[in-house]
Amino acid sequence: MYMLRVTTATVLGLLACSGCSDPAPAAEPSQPQGWLDELALRQVVDLDPDPHVLELNLEARVESVELIPGKPTPMWTYDGGLPGPLIRAQVGDRVIVHFKNSLPEPTTIHWHGLRIPAAMDGAVGHSQSAIEPGASFDYDFVLPDAGTFWYHPHFNSAAQVGNGLYGPIIVDDPAEPPGLGDEVVMMLSDASVNDAGQLEAPNGGGDFGTLFGREGNLVLVNGRVNPTIHARAGLRQRWRVINTAKARYFQLGLAGHDFTRIGGDGGLTEAPTLSPSVLLAPAERADVLVEPGSAGPTQLADGLTVRWLPYDRGFGSVYNRPEEDVLRISFTDEALARSPALPELGRVIPAIDVAGATPVDIALTLDIPEDGPLSMGINGVPFSEADHIAARVGETQVWTVKNTFEWDHPFHLHGFFFQVLDVNGVSPAVREWKDTANLPVNGTLRFAVRFDERPGMWMFHCHILDHADAGMMGMLQLR
Ligand code: C2O
Ligand code: CU
Repeated sequence: MYMLRVTTATVLGLLACSGCSDPAPAAEPSQPQGWLDELALRQVVDLDPDPHVLELNLEARVESVELIPGKPTPMWTYDGGLPGPLIRAQVGDRVIVHFKNSLPEPTTIHWHGLRIPAAMDGAVGHSQSAIEPGASFDYDFVLPDAGTFWYHPHFNSAAQVGNGLYGPIIVDDPAEPPGLGDEVVMMLSDASVNDAGQLEAPNGGGDFGTLFGREGNLVLVNGRVNPTIHARAGLRQRWRVINTAKARYFQLGLAGHDFTRIGGDGGLTEAPTLSPSVLLAPAERADVLVEPGSAGPTQLADGLTVRWLPYDRGFGSVYNRPEEDVLRISFTDEALARSPALPELGRVIPAIDVAGATPVDIALTLDIPEDGPLSMGINGVPFSEADHIAARVGETQVWTVKNTFEWDHPFHLHGFFFQVLDVNGVSPAVREWKDTANLPVNGTLRFAVRFDERPGMWMFHCHILDHADAGMMGMLQLR
């Protein structure tokens, strides 16, 4: 509508000035300058002049980060801050990361969700050996898919991710329609920090901590506690949300607003879906549109709060738990803006043909022996004793994953996208590519996966990292 507002004065001006250049079109309403400063992500320095090669240095090291004012916390960081710097490039671009480990223990980097060769996958003991303190490793791969991804260590994962090692990856598709909204990348996490600003031990709470999964007490968005977005009311925002917490589920709500979910783990979904909240199990991503303040002036004066809503992930998980503030949205005092119409969205995602697919049946299991530490596993055995699941390049498999617990588990497969067929017999509303899917209490997840030509050893595990570390992991051997 803004384009059509041509006043008499403008017309007279035009008549009076034949030969001078066209007047600037009336500006579309836009977000205020610096609106995302409190959520700003650090950018990488690209060492390669080729626009389709992103080459960077990355160092893991302990550095003080002020999460609680005046009480710096020695966090484990990529390049000295939380989260790690944003790695952003286009589909088909090559990424070269000269990684240096300056932590006091070994580490690796896993590029969560990227379909890259096994040798670049960061799985210690399977695709590479651990990178010792002081040592370096070069990661080098081509980005095959557009979407929202992330990177994190795959050694002593619960502790290392929990201590702060995680960073975002956005892969842009130049063919995506413009005008989806003003983008906000949000890495959601939590940290266990005491009043003095010190990190709590990663094994607090013993076996019960492991069983439940350890949630931190400070909720973080891009490494900040309750930051503020300074927005123009009514303008559409596109949130790319990544749950990097080691155990916490995030269910986000914004009172009076619905979210339009347009994408997930593996880029855009088949079609947008509307929902009153955004639910992300650990490691899942969501690409959602929202128009904060669109419901009118009553919302504007005090701004809005995005809240963490308790989500029932099993026994004791919502008992006595209040909602928590995650993020503030304050508004400029300009009039409510109207967002331009949403471009047509729809992605063709053909269903994987499961005729003749090989069935794979696994169960997530728990063992609490009387005389030893608890162990979690797959099919009754912990990771260290498990047989590999075999697959051939080009093969299609249908996995049935059964949860025998009183708690949910986010199930993650490395290196390949899958299509969820059903959860407890119910098919998803729209088709999409996933690499992590939540498996509810005592539930059953079925998914189809086709193995392309990237032979090697690939992990699958629960992304509650305390559970993965306790043995809820397995290997797929693709030949
Ligand atoms: Cu984020 Cu083994 O994964
Ligand atoms: Cu689990």
